[in-house]
Amino acid sequence: MPLAARPIGVFDSGIGGLSVLRALRAELPHERFVYLADSGHAPYGERDARFVAQRTHAITAYLRAQHHIKALVVACNTATAAAIHEVRSSHPDLPLVGVEPALKPAVQRSQTRRIGVIGTRGTLGSDKFRRLHAALAAQAEFILKACDGLAHAIERSTEQHLSADAETPEVRALCARYISAMGRFGTESGDIDTLVLGCTHYVFALPTLRALVGPQVHIIDTGAPVARQTRRLLEQSAALAPESLPGDTAGTVQLLTTGALAPLQAAAQRWLQLPAQQCERVEHP
Ligand code: SIN
Repeated sequence: MPLAARPIGVFDSGIGGLSVLRALRAELPHERFVYLADSGHAPYGERDARFVAQRTHAITAYLRAQHHIKALVVACNTATAAAIHEVRSSHPDLPLVGVEPALKPAVQRSQTRRIGVIGTRGTLGSDKFRRLHAALAAQAEFILKACDGLAHAIERSTEQHLSADAETPEVRALCARYISAMGRFGTESGDIDTLVLGCTHYVFALPTLRALVGPQVHIIDTGAPVARQTRRLLEQSAALAPESLPGDTAGTVQLLTTGALAPLQAAAQRWLQLPAQQCERVEHP
C-alpha cells in the first residue's frame, strides 16, 4: 500500500487519547486512523515507568506489524514521559509525536505568572517533565498536582453516562479535591490564571474543571498543537493522505482495545459520534 494511504496510529492507556484523536480528525480529515486503548493494562499513571515503557514498545511494534501505520501519535502523557526517546531511537524511520504538559504555551499566556499543572504521578514525577519544568522555572511559578485516580474515574464515568459531559460524582469530587488543594484561581496578583491539563483524559472533565477554576482562567490542553505537529511531520515525509483515498476510506477510524469493549464503545459514541461496531477487542499486544 502506498505510504500516504496507510493509517496513522494513535494510542493511549485508555480513552483519554480520544480527545487527541478528535483534534487529529479535525486537522487531518483525509487521513485514516487506528486507535488502540490499552485498557487491559490501565491506568498507567501510577505504574512503574519501566512497565509503561514496555507497553509503549509492544504497542508500537504491534501497530507497525499488524496495521502498517505510517506515523504514531502517543496520545498519553505518561507513556510519552516514560518512553518517547527510546521509541524514537528504536524506530528512527517512523514519524512520532508525543504529548507533554503545555508549559511553554502557558508561560506565554499567563499574566500572573502562576500556572497550575495537573497530571498523573508518572508524568509529573518523570525526568522528562522535571527537565521541562526546570527550564521554565525562572519564568513562572508552577503549582503541580498529581491527580491519583482521576484518569481512571473518567474511564469509569464514560461507561456510566452516555450523555455529553455528564461526569460522575466521583469525577467531580476528585477534581474538586485536587483543584482546591492548588490555591486561588483568578486574575489578581498571586492567583493561578492558567491551568495546564497534563493528561489527555482530563479534557473529558472540562465542564467540571471550568466550573471549579472560574471563567477567567485559561485552560490549556494539547490536542490541537499535537494535531498540527502531526501534519508537519507527515508533510516532511511526503506521507500526507491525498484528498481522495482509494475506496473512499478518508476519515475512517478503527478502534481497538486490550480491555473491555464497553468503555471504548461508550466513549467513541459520546465524544466522536462513532458507532459501537467500529470497536474491536484485541488479545495482543
Ligand atoms: C492513566 O492511565 O493513568 C492516564 C495516563 C495519561 O494519560 O497520562
